[in-house]
Amino acid sequence: MRRPLIAGNWKMYKTPSEAEKFAQELKSIDIYKERDILVCVPFPAILSVSRVLSGTSILVGAQNMYPAKEGAYTGEVSPLMIKDSGASFVICGHSERRQIFKETDDFIAEKVKAALDYEITPILCVGETLQENEAGETFSVIERQLRTGLKFLSGNTIEKIVIAYEPVWAIGTGKNATPQQAQDVHRFIRKLIEQNYGQSASCIRILYGGSVKPENIDILMAEADIDGALVGGASLKIESFSRIVGFQRI
Ligand code: 13P
Repeated sequence: MRRPLIAGNWKMYKTPSEAEKFAQELKSIDIYKERDILVCVPFPAILSVSRVLSGTSILVGAQNMYPAKEGAYTGEVSPLMIKDSGASFVICGHSERRQIFKETDDFIAEKVKAALDYEITPILCVGETLQENEAGETFSVIERQLRTGLKFLSGNTIEKIVIAYEPVWAIGTGKNATPQQAQDVHRFIRKLIEQNYGQSASCIRILYGGSVKPENIDILMAEADIDGALVGGASLKIESFSRIVGFQRI
């Protein structure tokens, strides 16, 4: 019922020319009809990657944006700009933006709303830090991030979003959540959305992110509420990304 989504988050890697070369290679990977593939690339590469991938089913996204149409916001990039460059998705509230750039839940909520206003699919990232995890605060942190992050959404817009659960302690550490740990949080997220928005929750895709690699994608995707992955490091090499995209149903 929910179409799997495998998304690469390139973070601040690949110059525009490297990105374009990688996009050419991406065209040669096996495309599976029953799953979506997305690459969230740095701003300067959105246009060229979109051009290379146009005519394929591989989707292009941005990793951030500023929640205003235009204005005196030096150094920022608007939803209109990313959309016009070819992005149909945008990552909102990645933990690196929360931690390094001090983005708050309220600011992230504005980005989610702005993305939807411009018909861009927001991927709202949530996840607890190691400290919060060890203090037993995982569910309360995620509940707060979701309640605030989705505060502008109504019953009929909720279906248009994607959520990514990325435990901060699993990002770039090689330490992934076990499939069961991830499933428990995904289930919790779905239930919470169900309580607030009703049955629409059943069609929302919830991705897992944090040290996803060829070795663990199959077992993660076997869980009932894991609908895809948000992949950092392993999305930068064609060998590992194509293996993840081609995950096996077990
Ligand atoms: P890694 O896959 O490198 O752990 O990164 C995960 C991530 O932050 C994706 O958004």
